[in-house]
Amino acid sequence: MFKIAVLVSGGGTNLNSIIQAIKERKLKNCCIEMVISDNPNVGALDIANNNNIKNFVVDKKNYGKNQSEKILELVNGKVDLIVLAGYLSIIDGEILKMFSNKIINIHPSLIPSFCGKGMYGLNVHKSVIDKGVKVSGCTVHFVNNGIDEGAIILQKTVEVYFDDTPEILQKRVLEQEHNVLVEAIKLISEEKIEIVNSKVKFL
Ligand code: GRF
Repeated sequence: MFKIAVLVSGGGTNLNSIIQAIKERKLKNCCIEMVISDNPNVGALDIANNNNIKNFVVDKKNYGKNQSEKILELVNGKVDLIVLAGYLSIIDGEILKMFSNKIINIHPSLIPSFCGKGMYGLNVHKSVIDKGVKVSGCTVHFVNNGIDEGAIILQKTVEVYFDDTPEILQKRVLEQEHNVLVEAIKLISEEKIEIVNSKVKFL
């Protein structure tokens, strides 16, 4: 069984897409071993509880700079993959070594555009609209010690229309996030990718 830890900070729509994919057997050999949130009051924890998934809160208030260390304690030896699904805290330290190329993140733009420090949530879509680009989308990538810099696994594009608001664009991108995140987990769980010279190759 391919065990996953899902890290969350918000509503949990990406978490929910993984849960549904497992239920619909799109992710045949996968299970969510645990959900870890950096915020005690988020919808993602309700989704975890409603699906009887073990969950923990590792927030800055109680763990400060030891947040990543505590997460490593919870996941070490327990999971095959860590999925950052709307997770907003920084992952750093030993966990990046212990889970090298075993942590993935979903970012709501076509990396390397509109990513890096401060680029999360609606900020991303506001910048996309302000820039006037005609195509946006989302990216699943491996997590390394940079922000949104790890090897790109999959990307999906969406059209950007002149009358889009950040909220409308976010909704259009989020629909694609749900598809591409599940697709990336499937590829990894079925060992259908490898990393060659810091680039992802499909086998
Ligand atoms: C999404 O826009 C995702 O791209 C970003 O966090 C937002 C909320 O995700 N990383 P979720 O609904 O909590 O999964």
